[in-house]
Amino acid sequence: MTSAAAKTLLPNDLDAYWMPFTANRAFKQSPRIVASAKDMHYYTPEGRAILDATAGLWCANAGHSREPIVEAIRAQAGELDFAPPFQFGHPKVFALAARVAALAPADLSHVFFANSGSEAVDTALKIALAFHNIRGEGSRQRLIGRERGYHGACFGGTAVGGMVPNRKVFGMLLAGVDHLPATYNRAEQAFTKGEPEWGAHLADELERLVGLHDASTIAAVIVEPMAGSTGVLPPPKGYLERLRAICDKYGILLIFDEVITGFGRLGHAFAAERYGVVPDMITFAKGVTSGTVPMGGVIVRKPIYEAFMKGPDHAVELFHGYTYSGHPLACAAGLATLDLYAQEGLFDRAKALEGIWADTVHGLRGLPNVLDIRTLGLTAAIDLAGKPDAPGKRGFEAMDRAFHDHDLLLRLAGDTIVLTPPLIISEAQIGEIVERTGRAIKAVA
Ligand SMILES: Cc1ncc(COP(=O)(O)O)c(C=O)c1O
Repeated sequence: MTSAAAKTLLPNDLDAYWMPFTANRAFKQSPRIVASAKDMHYYTPEGRAILDATAGLWCANAGHSREPIVEAIRAQAGELDFAPPFQFGHPKVFALAARVAALAPADLSHVFFANSGSEAVDTALKIALAFHNIRGEGSRQRLIGRERGYHGACFGGTAVGGMVPNRKVFGMLLAGVDHLPATYNRAEQAFTKGEPEWGAHLADELERLVGLHDASTIAAVIVEPMAGSTGVLPPPKGYLERLRAICDKYGILLIFDEVITGFGRLGHAFAAERYGVVPDMITFAKGVTSGTVPMGGVIVRKPIYEAFMKGPDHAVELFHGYTYSGHPLACAAGLATLDLYAQEGLFDRAKALEGIWADTVHGLRGLPNVLDIRTLGLTAAIDLAGKPDAPGKRGFEAMDRAFHDHDLLLRLAGDTIVLTPPLIISEAQIGEIVERTGRAIKAVA
């Protein structure tokens, strides 16, 4: 056997895989590998049960390897493995579009499928530009994001995103992008449960950007209703309403990136419903299939869809899409997932648990290095003081210790610990997650 052939057979050779958003060298010295999962737990190759405090990566909202979803995927693979999405369709893609649209508020009625949150975001940005263009407002080319926002890793999403390490080594990204300020201010908001009272006025910064660039050059504003990846920044009370009003005033499209907040995370199908604010587009991914098969998409309001449905019948209306848009396996998984959410009332469950979740997590206040705790829906963030001259190290060590010593899978944003469990979590498991998180925090004091 050649050494190259031998290498591919070695299960413990970690070298070839360049891991995404990962400290590769630290991982390969002390791997955190999970080999199977069920409900609220992952299992290591040795069979150690790890409590999942992050729903995988904010996606396994129904818990792991749920039988109805597994069975739907299995059956679909045997029935229709792939169908070309351009000029052809298959039954489940239409069914899923209707089901997703039915969960969205108001006239958000048409669904364009992609395969990830990043693709969903780039799709929404392109639809916004094209929408203005075909209506004779082609000068509207600017896209406005927000500092500390995360909208995926493609070029469009990176450009409107506002997390510095994600942007700084990738050159100029898209031209004509500007950013609103982040909504977080520790002095005003520390240790708030839910939406902070302070900060609605920060939406008025959009007026300033309109003054600077002129509304005639601005296509869309994209925000996460709750900034997730930067470490859970709940929207200040009234902020999203104000953003909506300013967008209306100037004919600017408002996009809610609900890749994290969609499908129950904040106790509703979408955060738009929680806040009573109707955006022009909603991007989604993750929870739509409970993370089982990659899928993302954009829900658009009816007038946006209708604006494109012009010209000769045989002509393609939007030159955009992906080979795997609406893949049959993803659609089967999505339909089974939405059924499960409904049968088990998981969105309401998240709402019902929000109070006890918040109270329990806020019990960590007072532990060493805890600077702030934020909770919203079934999400939480705990800011730890960074080590002098080693930003991110304390957070990293807490995550690593949690996995190896306390059988807990945590998520990190720098020195911030982020908790976002599956929505099937029991009250006892809330206690377990918080208790183990506390132990990990003490371990890195
Ligand atoms: C708000 C938001 N948008 C977009 C994305 C990108 O999604 P994906 O990683 O599926 O491309 C994420 C991922 O966490 C996200 O949180």
